[in-house]
Amino acid sequence: MADMYVKELDMINPFVIASSPATQGAKNVIKTSAVRPGAIVLRNFGHGMGGGSYISPNSKAMFSGQQAIHSHAVGTQVKDPINSLEEYCEEVKKIKSAMDKDIKLWVSVGHYSDIVKGGDWEKYWVRQAKELTLAGADALELHFNTPGVAVAKDRSFNYYQLVSRCTEMIKKATHLPVMVKLAVEACDPLTAIKVAQAAGADAVGPTARWKGFYIDLNWKETQPRPGSGYGGTQANPIVCYAVAEARSKGIDIPMFAGGGVFSYDQAARILMAGSQCVQIGALACAGGVGATRKMMEDLEKWMDKAGYESAAQLTGDALKLFNMSSEVAAERTKRIGTAYRERAVDTQKCVGCSRCVDVCWHEGIELKGGKATKTDKCIGCGYCFQVCPTGALEVETGKILASVFDEMEG
Ligand SMILES: Cc1cc2nc3c(=O)[nH]c(=O)nc-3n(C[C@H](O)[C@H](O)[C@H](O)COP(=O)(O)O)c2cc1C
Ligand code: SF4
Ligand code: SF4
Repeated sequence: MADMYVKELDMINPFVIASSPATQGAKNVIKTSAVRPGAIVLRNFGHGMGGGSYISPNSKAMFSGQQAIHSHAVGTQVKDPINSLEEYCEEVKKIKSAMDKDIKLWVSVGHYSDIVKGGDWEKYWVRQAKELTLAGADALELHFNTPGVAVAKDRSFNYYQLVSRCTEMIKKATHLPVMVKLAVEACDPLTAIKVAQAAGADAVGPTARWKGFYIDLNWKETQPRPGSGYGGTQANPIVCYAVAEARSKGIDIPMFAGGGVFSYDQAARILMAGSQCVQIGALACAGGVGATRKMMEDLEKWMDKAGYESAAQLTGDALKLFNMSSEVAAERTKRIGTAYRERAVDTQKCVGCSRCVDVCWHEGIELKGGKATKTDKCIGCGYCFQVCPTGALEVETGKILASVFDEMEG
């Protein structure tokens, strides 16, 4: 089995069970620890709600990695059982004495609603950081990712100032690592990462969850509340871009990126983009221990099959693709274009459906006697290959594209 240890953050594996109902209070953290992730983030206290969940089209689609959305605005909203910092520290102590010692406990400090409420929230956050450090947390996490932060910023600082000022402030209040969870909406994620690093963050977690308004066509029957933390599989490529862009600019701070991980392949992508760790949010709370553990096991099985010996080897492995040189890009275009152009229709397989003709904008293919046939006007754009239902038009695109890397970058 692959070695899943994360050296940069001394974690047994790259999975961070992110702040959510699955990590609200000691009872839920301890229940979730059966997953055996590298770290669990104890959810912020004092903002009241947590619980209900809305998944579309359904959880089966979400857990299998198909296009799906997740919003946490429907279903009974559970009251926060923790009302004071003292109680929150007690929860930390309970967790530390009951949870396996090799699982890290990150504790979320502060909540944007404190800023919205106004008052002396900065002093309050510093007090939290100090007391949570004494209570035995392994790291502190700052929560700058949710759409709410975008609301809060209007009340005091702009987003980057908020990230910078709070990171510096919490760093001074603790000797523990400070993990800064960042938004990828309402800001430029690269700037946010740079600002957090400059302010002393020990790791950053660009996280894709947005304000969203998902409209089911039977709109009265469903109820995603606009403005709630909206996520889903579509978050995954966006967060991968934020990570890969930062890595490509030479930013080397450890990352725990998150967003849209419901199956092993989405976790693999976040690591391949260059993040050392990967957050699990909606999957942990809407899928629970079983679904989360399965996703982790599936990743390890896939790594074995694909020949990855460690999580470290997987981390950043796709950056060559992100930073592809113009020579490699041109060669790939040339080879695949040539393959499309030269590939004739397999008349045995052609059923004359004419879909290829419908999508050809160059008169490159026509129907003759109920069968498609290429003309000398074909430029090799590839549209027709995407729509042919029978395999009459087919090229092994993956192999052709990969061969260029093997030959030119090998
Ligand atoms: C129901 C729910 C409640 C959440 N509450 C919090 C929270 O209180 N604080 C926080 O930092 N993040 C919160 N998050 C965000 C998660 O910690 C995590 O960053 C995010 O869900 C990752 O994206 P994913 O759900 O697509 O995996 C919540 C997420 C969900 C699904
Ligand atoms: S590859 Fe493009 S140009 Fe050639 S036949 Fe197909 S759609 Fe037309
Ligand atoms: S799409 Fe495929 S099956 Fe249909 S006409 Fe074209 S080549 Fe034949």
